[in-house]
Amino acid sequence: MSIFSANTDSARMPQHIAIIMDGNGRWAKKRGLPRNAGHAVGSETFRKIATYCKNIGVQYLTVYAFSTENWKRSKEEVEGIMKLFDQYLREAIEEMEADHIRLKVLGDLSRISPELRQLIEKTYEISTHYDGFQVNVCINYGGRDEIVRAARAFAEKCLAGEAKPEELTEESFSHYLYSDGIPDPELIIRPSGELRTSNFLPWQSAYSEYYFTDVLWPDFDEAELDKAIAAFRARDRRFGGVKK
Ligand code: IPE
Ligand code: IPE
Ligand code: MG
Repeated sequence: MSIFSANTDSARMPQHIAIIMDGNGRWAKKRGLPRNAGHAVGSETFRKIATYCKNIGVQYLTVYAFSTENWKRSKEEVEGIMKLFDQYLREAIEEMEADHIRLKVLGDLSRISPELRQLIEKTYEISTHYDGFQVNVCINYGGRDEIVRAARAFAEKCLAGEAKPEELTEESFSHYLYSDGIPDPELIIRPSGELRTSNFLPWQSAYSEYYFTDVLWPDFDEAELDKAIAAFRARDRRFGGVKK
């Protein structure tokens, strides 16, 4: 049972939590296991945390699962991770209807296999039936890549005479991003002790609160999420203003 489930002070409950699911490799290494064993346990952690977020009333959970830089890893590791996506998407397709969950994949899908893309399409189709809890999984996601693509798409509209450069605003630009329609995350969590963002949501995180913990992602649990939310609730968010 969560310390937040009584729905107290819901105004301070983050509507959107984002997580850099890091530390799977080190978790496996510590146990003398192959890196992919860490990814397998990490994917279980993800399922557990997604369920928990839904139960405590978080509206959006965004997870960083595979970056545009992660292709540098061995073929074996990349294939192992793709297989976990495949498993997760198949399961999600089964469960989304029952749990009324929406799912979105953020990232450049052109490098993803046609089989995975087909599963992703199916989850989009199911998502249109619901408007509740939404999980966003970042696959082949890079924040700079996202911004460059958005700039390109806008430039193309200008060239086609459908938009004018002077009309571009922060708000209108955000519609060209993968995250179109998703509010910015209020809280971004990075486990595993690394104090960097690794190209995750650079545009959307402009005013996000960060929470870092040394816990490795496969060891992360509901109590750790509670701690992150408690820390978030204690923050003074001024957005450039002055505290009243
Ligand atoms: C995060 O865990 C998962 C991915 C990046 C796919 P890592 O695999 O980066 O784990 P560490 O950082 O090596 O421990
Ligand atoms: C960030 O973790 C990407 C994901 C968690 C998917 P990395 O392990 O790839 O990041 P670095 O290499 O520590 O910056
Ligand atoms: Mg890592």
